Amino acid sequence: MNFLNYIKTKITITRYNYSNIKRYGQLLELILKFKPKSVLEIGVYKGLRSAQMLSAAKVFSNEVNYYGFDLFENFYSEEKILDKELSKKPNSLDNIQNFLKNRGKINLYKGFTNETLPKFLNKKIKIDFIFIDGGHSIETIKNDWFYVSKMMHEKTIVIFDDFYHDDQDLIKRFGCNNIVSNLENKYKVKYLPNIDNIVKKKLKIQLVQVTL
Ligand SMILES: C[S@@+](CC[C@H](N)C(=O)[O-])C[C@H]1O[C@@H](n2cnc3c(N)ncnc32)[C@H](O)[C@@H]1O
Repeated sequence: MNFLNYIKTKITITRYNYSNIKRYGQLLELILKFKPKSVLEIGVYKGLRSAQMLSAAKVFSNEVNYYGFDLFENFYSEEKILDKELSKKPNSLDNIQNFLKNRGKINLYKGFTNETLPKFLNKKIKIDFIFIDGGHSIETIKNDWFYVSKMMHEKTIVIFDDFYHDDQDLIKRFGCNNIVSNLENKYKVKYLPNIDNIVKKKLKIQLVQVTL
């Protein structure tokens, strides 16, 4: 066990617990609980959560495979993507590669996930822990779940970000609500306890865990 990473992760979790984004503390708690050797993240953005997830996973395993999907610099040549995906502006692939390079076995995939995920699926790699936090349109999350669901093994943990509360207009177009609410017949769906209130964006957000 890597005690330094363990302490670092516990400090990060405590910081999240005193912030307005407590759900990310839960994300790291889950990594400590399930000890994944492979982590796949849809929506890398600036790589901060990626680094924290890797640090937590490396408490238990020297070698952790990380697979990150994003538009990276392509984001800036796509018109209206910010509004279409209710998105954030990511760093470039080179920047992220450099930032994450010593933190695990890093594999980055640039482009829209409706193109990159099907190609990745051909590699037939099963993943232990998956965080879906890319484009926020229902269409994109549906696409991401479609491919992610095929990368699951018996013990895979899938975490969806962006389960929204209260704002029915928003929920009609964005977030994972529509997708996860239809999974309960086939999967175990758990709504994680912390609901963050993002006052600036007038949003309440929760993580949802899906397992077989
Ligand atoms: C909310 S941010 C990800 C945040 C990150 N997971 C974290 O916790 O820090 C969403 C990211 O998804 C990317 N993105 C949005 N739509 C996408 C799409 N259709 N395909 C691939 N990436 C997309 C954006 O470039 C952005 O970096």
